[in-house]
Amino acid sequence: MTDIRDQWLAEIAAAADESALRELESRLLGKSGAVTELLKNVPKLPPEERRAAGQAAHQAKVAIEAALAGRRAALDAAALARELDGGGFDPSAPALRRGSGSGPTREVLVPWTRPRGTLHPITVVRDELVDLFRSLGFAWLDGPEVESEFFNFEALNIPADHPARDSQDTFWLDDGNLLRTHTSPVQIRAMRHYRPPLKVIVPGRCFRSETVDKSHEHTFYQMEGLVVDEGVSTANLIHTMKTCLRVVLRRDVKVRLRPGFFPFVEPGFELDVNCPFCNGAGCSVCKQSGWIEILPCGMVHPRVLEAGGVDPERYTGFAFGMGLQRVTMLRYGVDDIRLFTGCDLRFLSQFGEVAE
Ligand code: DAH
Repeated sequence: MTDIRDQWLAEIAAAADESALRELESRLLGKSGAVTELLKNVPKLPPEERRAAGQAAHQAKVAIEAALAGRRAALDAAALARELDGGGFDPSAPALRRGSGSGPTREVLVPWTRPRGTLHPITVVRDELVDLFRSLGFAWLDGPEVESEFFNFEALNIPADHPARDSQDTFWLDDGNLLRTHTSPVQIRAMRHYRPPLKVIVPGRCFRSETVDKSHEHTFYQMEGLVVDEGVSTANLIHTMKTCLRVVLRRDVKVRLRPGFFPFVEPGFELDVNCPFCNGAGCSVCKQSGWIEILPCGMVHPRVLEAGGVDPERYTGFAFGMGLQRVTMLRYGVDDIRLFTGCDLRFLSQFGEVAE
């Protein structure tokens, strides 16, 4: 028994590869393998031989199992060592992923590289606007997202009982502050801090307690603009807005002003741009009017100038509040505002500009 067992162990130790090992495994331990047969035979032996024969067969089985596992591990280690040792394995090479080959349907393995991020479309448009306004001499300001009721409403001529507060329902904090509903409070902060003459833009995030749908978000982006100086007029406002829209929408635009009510401007306007989809002829996007409402704006209300510490007898100013999502939607023809805050990279990565 010992002899034959040692012979089996020697065969296992000499097995050249996995298939040789499998063949031995089945020849010895398989259903009718040699060791299995030995074990099956034990009950048929005379009673006095059974114990010794049973023990020997069982020990042979355990030894063979251990030898198989040991040989298998040794073969695996040798294969890995061969691969590492000049066998074409370069641990510094990029991993491969499925990619498309040159033919229309060909899929090939191409090196995997970490995908580069792209700028968010709202950031793309914001940066363009910021560049433009800076070239016109505007300063880029920031303001707090958590605002006081005073800056967000009162100083902008929206007292506590004013109905305009209803349309700007927001999130109140326990300390009496709130998440700003627009970027307009920075108008007051800017006037108080810098004094006229003043030209500023304020891109930033705003919040409202809105029901989210295709064109409303609870978290959205605006860009406020404010110019205060002696002799600023509506003509300056129109010219600046036209220049700005021409650049972001990348076309020559026609604009029109309609009266619009905002407590912090007088007169206040809704500025419309000729519809880019039908060029003014009337379509479903512009509700057959040929115009798209794009920008609320107006001449700064004297009370707002006063709240900013500016003398309304001497200075006038204009202001505008651009919805950055809205402009971005028009620029790229996006019809659902929720796409911007969803995390769908199939949408977001289309805008192509690579982040630095
Ligand atoms: N703050 C206003 C809003 O969010 C938008 C606005 C309207 C801003 C007129 C202005 C303006 O500066 O002149 O609804």
